[in-house]
Amino acid sequence: MSLLNLTNPWLEITAADYEAHMFHPDVLQLQALNSIFQSQYEDYLPEKLIYIGICTGNGLEHVRPEVTRTVYGIDINEHFLKLCTARYGERIGSLQTRCLDLNHAYFSEATVDLVVVNLVLEFIDIERFIGQLRQVMKKGTVVSIVFQVRHDAPRISGSGVKAMDVLSGFKQEVDREFLEKQLHMAGLVRIREQSRFMGDGKELVRIDFRNT
Ligand SMILES: C[S@@+](CC[C@H](N)C(=O)[O-])C[C@H]1O[C@@H](n2cnc3c(N)ncnc32)[C@H](O)[C@@H]1O
Repeated sequence: MSLLNLTNPWLEITAADYEAHMFHPDVLQLQALNSIFQSQYEDYLPEKLIYIGICTGNGLEHVRPEVTRTVYGIDINEHFLKLCTARYGERIGSLQTRCLDLNHAYFSEATVDLVVVNLVLEFIDIERFIGQLRQVMKKGTVVSIVFQVRHDAPRISGSGVKAMDVLSGFKQEVDREFLEKQLHMAGLVRIREQSRFMGDGKELVRIDFRNT
């Protein structure tokens, strides 16, 4: 399956449906991703950060304005970005959102200290993602990635929010071996790995890489 030729279903999903799904007691991923973002942020305290697939801004309350000069938030869904800005724009004061489909466009306005990519590689072509990284990395940039390993769990967790079903034909399993090989070829070395097991049988794997 090539994601490049498909219409991205994230454009059809409302923020209310997304958050109801992720917050559901049988999913609980919004809460897990919030605390993962907090640790990604606090582990590196970046001056400049790109949050790829920022959605409605989960975790941005942990950003410290006295430490971080700019947060670039990238997402394909402009409604998510508007809500994100309404919620966090004033509080962190350094938020710049860009509405981009990373399967077809790149952000290339700045290089950054930290790239956060949480549960997005399921929807982005891996080679495109590497191309995006090349645009924003400098020596020492950390790329922190969270992807999901399904084990026996269903592709889309059972929250009962029907609107999320549109993702099922689009979502790819992240091929860890391929991803790591591509990152290695781009000059990144693995520096940290953690796993979190979710109640529905899924595993959230966080791996951090540093550009050498
Ligand atoms: C599962 S959500 C990410 C959750 C979020 N990172 C968090 O921690 O709560 C996936 C996000 O990726 C965005 N996305 C999906 N495909 C994309 C693409 N091709 N380009 C840019 N953003 C995309 C979606 O709109 C959505 O906001």
